[in-house]
Amino acid sequence: MNRPDRRTFAIISHPDAGKTTLTEKLLLFGGAIHLAGEVKARGANRRARSDWMKIEQQRGISVTSSVMTFEREGITFNLLDTPGHEDFSEDTYRTLTAVDSAVMVIDAAKGIEAQTRKLFEVCRLRSVPIITFVNKVDREGRDAFALLDEIADMLALDVTPMSWPVGMGGLFEGIYDLNANRLMQPSGDSRAFEGKTASFSGLDDPKLADALSAQGLERLREEAELAVGGYGEFDPEAYRHGDLTPVYFGSALKEFGVGELIDALARFAPPPRPQPAEPAPVSPDHAGVTGFVFKVQANMDPQHRDRIAFMRLCSGKFRRGMKLTPSGSGKPIAVHSPIMFFAQDRELAEEAWPGDIIGIPNHGTLRVGDTLTEGEGIRFTGLPNFAPEILRRVALVDPTKTKQLRKALDDLSEEGVIQVFYPEIGSNWVVGVVGQLQLEVLLSRLEAEYKVAARLEPSPWDTARWIAGDDAAIKAFASINSSQLSRDRDGALVFMAKSAWEVGYVQERNPDIRFSATKER
Ligand code: G4P
Repeated sequence: MNRPDRRTFAIISHPDAGKTTLTEKLLLFGGAIHLAGEVKARGANRRARSDWMKIEQQRGISVTSSVMTFEREGITFNLLDTPGHEDFSEDTYRTLTAVDSAVMVIDAAKGIEAQTRKLFEVCRLRSVPIITFVNKVDREGRDAFALLDEIADMLALDVTPMSWPVGMGGLFEGIYDLNANRLMQPSGDSRAFEGKTASFSGLDDPKLADALSAQGLERLREEAELAVGGYGEFDPEAYRHGDLTPVYFGSALKEFGVGELIDALARFAPPPRPQPAEPAPVSPDHAGVTGFVFKVQANMDPQHRDRIAFMRLCSGKFRRGMKLTPSGSGKPIAVHSPIMFFAQDRELAEEAWPGDIIGIPNHGTLRVGDTLTEGEGIRFTGLPNFAPEILRRVALVDPTKTKQLRKALDDLSEEGVIQVFYPEIGSNWVVGVVGQLQLEVLLSRLEAEYKVAARLEPSPWDTARWIAGDDAAIKAFASINSSQLSRDRDGALVFMAKSAWEVGYVQERNPDIRFSATKER
């Protein structure tokens, strides 16, 4: 089967490094011109979409991920947005399970920051290859060599500079492409890149003297020579294994380096890769349609209970209307109105290919982690739940709303906003999250969408572990520890502990029970 070419990727960065700006420019270069400036509508332009999104507005962050698609030279690029706030969330992790590569954006003045590093570690777990974009060279930044060395040292990655900035900030004269020997230069009052490009035979080409100041030329020759000699040549294989990152310098704001970045994604970034699954990894060339749900999002309109499941297609050719069976319910569903998340609008998809993301509207039948197939016994693995780091008891302001609260907690845990734990004894329902922000989203959505006023109170528990073992062992364990047992949304048994130390202590005394900090679905 002749599959159309796809690059499915995410941008990882620390807040403020320029992810939104770069996203806008990528879409601009990819033809979705009218969209530039609207990816993160700012200030008064921002439309109120639903109550819980007020949190996004107030804090200027994007809580939800979305999918943007653009095309260039016959390749379709699917860009999955990862939430940019500092709270590491499960949402982010799961989004990164659905990409084949990532672009790491670094602020030239700040280098590697905390969130970049965390997200990088997630990519490394799955050997996701990374292209680095050092942003904001139009401003004063750190020395380019220091930045490269920091990437290499802090992330234990080999680096290969692919381009070089001729000065930064006030001294910025352009970006030199070290492979193609081209110089991209600023023009006009804005000093932005408007296409002014000159080609040279090499760094010793005398014509370079006409393009740059004497100081700029001397600097470029000296630095670029050192850079080319000092770092290894670009090795596409090492990049695809996640051992080496090619580094591009640029300015998203002034549009430097954006075209080169797209070219790099087209040339080097991997097309859809085989996905880990049971009983065996699924190749994109596998004939049957398979995919997994990495995110579920409630309708933007709180009046409607329907939700959109984001499915990454892993194999086969998807056609609108086809029947797929989710691993969760086991009941086939006909996918009549799938949504493609084109940047400009949501469009109905007639067909989709491995690497594409489609949105499937449903009323809660599809869950994060579900595998969808045409009836094959395949399950994608590696979409874990994480042991929550923050646990809170949910207290109702109006005690007659118990039923609504239960429904809301079930729904929101299905979406992956929170995890919920129902104790075996008593009714102190507990919610768990990995980041503080999730709690704010929870309260806000409970109120806006379910009309349930609730408070979060300290819980006696500090951490939780999924437990497993043979029936007799579990029964024996449960008879002694029932006051510390809960069930999650799926009915799986969870041991609630007062501290990590207690987990270790109990674990030692119960060698027949497996305690797990993640639960794979
Ligand atoms: P984020 O999504 O990673 O959080 O970053 P975002 O793109 O919102 O950029 C953060 C700030 O950095 C913005 O300025 C943006 O204009 C600026 N910026 C992004 N890329 C570049 C660049 O290449 N050069 C320079 N000089 N600045 C850049 P802001 O003042 O916070 O926002 P705004 O008022 O411009 O919207």
